[in-house]
Amino acid sequence: MQTPTTTINEASEFLASRLDGRKPVAGIILGSGLGTLAEKIEDALTIPYTSVPGFPKASAIGHKGNFICGNLGGKCVLAMQGRYHFYEGYSLDTVVLPVRVMVRLGISFLFVSNAAGTVCQDWQIGDLMLITDHINMIPNPLIGPNKDEFGPRFPDMTCAYDLTLQESARRIAADEGLRLREGIYLPLSGPSYETPAEYGFCRFAGADAVGMSTVPEVIVARQSEVRVLGMSVITDIAHQAGDGYVTDENEIIRQADAASRRMSLLFERLLSEI
Ligand code: HPA
Repeated sequence: MQTPTTTINEASEFLASRLDGRKPVAGIILGSGLGTLAEKIEDALTIPYTSVPGFPKASAIGHKGNFICGNLGGKCVLAMQGRYHFYEGYSLDTVVLPVRVMVRLGISFLFVSNAAGTVCQDWQIGDLMLITDHINMIPNPLIGPNKDEFGPRFPDMTCAYDLTLQESARRIAADEGLRLREGIYLPLSGPSYETPAEYGFCRFAGADAVGMSTVPEVIVARQSEVRVLGMSVITDIAHQAGDGYVTDENEIIRQADAASRRMSLLFERLLSEI
């Protein structure tokens, strides 16, 4: 069942009242192990998802389940420390509910992050990947009656990831001496990790990084013309059966956490420029 617009409005009104006059210009979604960016937010106000009407508890490992509102890069931001995933059994409508609410609160930008595996054998664990495009392999969150007040029935996705923000990210990364890969992100439903054949399929399809999230939120943000910057932290590399490698969620969280300082720096500098 679709989230009724009244639920979105109630949640937005509740959050607006908790924000007490703060007006976030950017939403930030912090993926698995990447929640530490929230520690850099100044004058932070923490609002647990469980306190927001209509929001279920986030249960994924490495996801705390808080909104954090405050200043980063001199801008008022609303960060999500953890997200809802399709693999947790939530409907895609629930997965995108926080973004709908942030749209209602008036954000103009969405910075979205995730941990992802790469199918590029010459990349390294810990690399940051600027998402330049996606191939959606989980159902589309806009299926069902269109919420006309959020945007068109058939939104354009030609520039899902904002070209100007991408350019800024490249410049800032070069300036900071950070290696920034770029590529195409492909989400599968999970929660099982990919077989070697599935990684091969993703590579053949044109993907560089594989994950289980992000795209539903991006689609909904773009429907409402929010400008999106997407970043994957590469936490594992596609492997072959028999090579002794096991994809392990704790190792993925550890690798994401280890890279989060670099990602936070990029996000902070990008925010200072918007
Ligand atoms: N596959 C899917 N999701 C992931 C991966 C992966 O290799 N790494 C981190 N999240």
